[in-house]
Amino acid sequence: MGQVTYIAHDGVRHTIELAEGETLMIGATSNAVPGIDGDCGGCAACGTCHVHIDPAWLAAVGPVTDAEKDMLQFADGVAADSRLSCQIRMRPDLDGLVVHLPESQH
Ligand code: FES
Repeated sequence: MGQVTYIAHDGVRHTIELAEGETLMIGATSNAVPGIDGDCGGCAACGTCHVHIDPAWLAAVGPVTDAEKDMLQFADGVAADSRLSCQIRMRPDLDGLVVHLPESQH
């Protein structure tokens, strides 16, 4: 339904196709994209799915939720563009989304 490109800190890119409603975390873990572990299964409780949203996509993705904020305070390298990829679901206007993986996740 829509493509997402994950760019690792060393520049390696992985582009995968997600079904509508599928989270970026599930897409990454089910396609062996390195750097996203998803240890808690997607309930915003581990922080191992931290991504930085590409600047061109920040407005489309929308603001961080309170549950994400609570978890992200424990993650490394958090910035204003930080999100938990388990909380972002594919939808038509996110086709082509680009996210960057933190240096600590590889
Ligand atoms: Fe655990 Fe996203 S998978 S916080």
